[in-house]
Amino acid sequence: MALRLLQLVVLVVAAAAGFRPGLANPAAVSVLPGLPVAGLAVGFYKETCPQAEELVLAEMRDIVGRDRTLGPALLRFMFHDCLVRGCDASIMLVSKNATGGERNAIPSYGLRGFDEIEQIKAKLEEACPLTVSCADIIVMAARDAIYLCDGPRYDVETGRRDGKVTLAFDADNDLPPPSSNVVDLKTYFSVKGLGWKDLVVLSGSHTIGRASCSTFASDRLYNYSGHAGQDPSLDKAYAARLRQACEAGLANDTTLVDMDPISPYTFDLSYYRDVVSNTSLFLSDQALLDDRWTRAYVERMATAESPDEFFADYVVAITNMARIEVLTGDNGEIRKVCAAHVD
Ligand SMILES: *[C@@H]1O[C@H](CO)[C@@H](O)[C@H](O)[C@H]1NC(C)=O
Ligand SMILES: *[C@@H]1O[C@H](CO)[C@@H](O)[C@H](O)[C@H]1NC(C)=O
Ligand SMILES: *[C@@H]1O[C@H](CO)[C@@H](O)[C@H](O)[C@H]1NC(C)=O
Ligand SMILES: *[C@@H]1O[C@H](CO)[C@@H](O)[C@H](O)[C@H]1NC(C)=O
Repeated sequence: MALRLLQLVVLVVAAAAGFRPGLANPAAVSVLPGLPVAGLAVGFYKETCPQAEELVLAEMRDIVGRDRTLGPALLRFMFHDCLVRGCDASIMLVSKNATGGERNAIPSYGLRGFDEIEQIKAKLEEACPLTVSCADIIVMAARDAIYLCDGPRYDVETGRRDGKVTLAFDADNDLPPPSSNVVDLKTYFSVKGLGWKDLVVLSGSHTIGRASCSTFASDRLYNYSGHAGQDPSLDKAYAARLRQACEAGLANDTTLVDMDPISPYTFDLSYYRDVVSNTSLFLSDQALLDDRWTRAYVERMATAESPDEFFADYVVAITNMARIEVLTGDNGEIRKVCAAHVD
């Protein structure tokens, strides 16, 4: 699910911008790390919808309070939006095209959050009609999901506008499958302007949430590399537990398994401990040990005493992701309902 992501540099700025415990005073840090994107700004809605960020957080508290699995789901949602045609809410659009839109593509299998983004959008339409884009709501919701799982709280840039095109084909092409090796992962990321560090840091998103057996059971438990059998790099005791959850030979087993068995709803370093101890879920997680740079990062985070460095890196990486191919200014549109019909 959520899957892989990426990033580099400017730790010092990120550390300053990173985790502040509350919403207090978002104006205190107005410049985020990396290269700024014209048209995006922290506090973009300060004049036009000053309560926007508070309203999103209030809805997210309600959503996660109702069902905590929706937090990680909304983080995955941002990944699926941003990697495909940029952060433009094209994942929400409903296509009349027979081949479908992004939401109909195979990588969107099990994606949740459509109704929740629409719920938040409806609140914002009440408060500030036709002002806050669906694309920004997706980015803010993911930010709050991380915070509500005890992860870093960071400033987000806003000012994105919504796209009008959605093609299943793009989602099929641009989202790395969970069976990807590290060379493929780095390629998927680099096409979007993301580096190895963004990859290894954003992969840390797998510290929260669940995945269905269909996304890993064949690769790791039953048919490793196309041969009957288990991935030899998977811890044997852990594999035995997974086999109890995931039935053999069931290609579309929808049973859900925690991605980080140590602390599935706490945003922390335990994902990296899972990877080094051969108890990560996807081939694409295990693959981070096959590249010297991503491996060094995984090993350092697995033994780190504090999550501070990871959190600072995460803010940089997710900020990079939030800048992919954005529509700003007069491009795109602000619509009333995110799941508009197109084509
Ligand atoms: C329908 O989808 C196909 C493949 O994704 C694409 O080539 C075609 O242009 C789309 N048609 C419209 C009207 O968008
Ligand atoms: C195992 O993988 C191979 C190669 O991808 C495939 O041909 C075969 O059908 C798979 N077997 C099972 C039981 O899924
Ligand atoms: C993980 O698997 C590798 C082989 O793939 C092995 O060398 C290593 O010792 C294992 N690590 C642990 C903690 O079991
Ligand atoms: C599993 O996949 C098969 C073939 O793709 C399909 O016929 C079947 O309905 C699916 N089962 C479930 C539970 O989705």
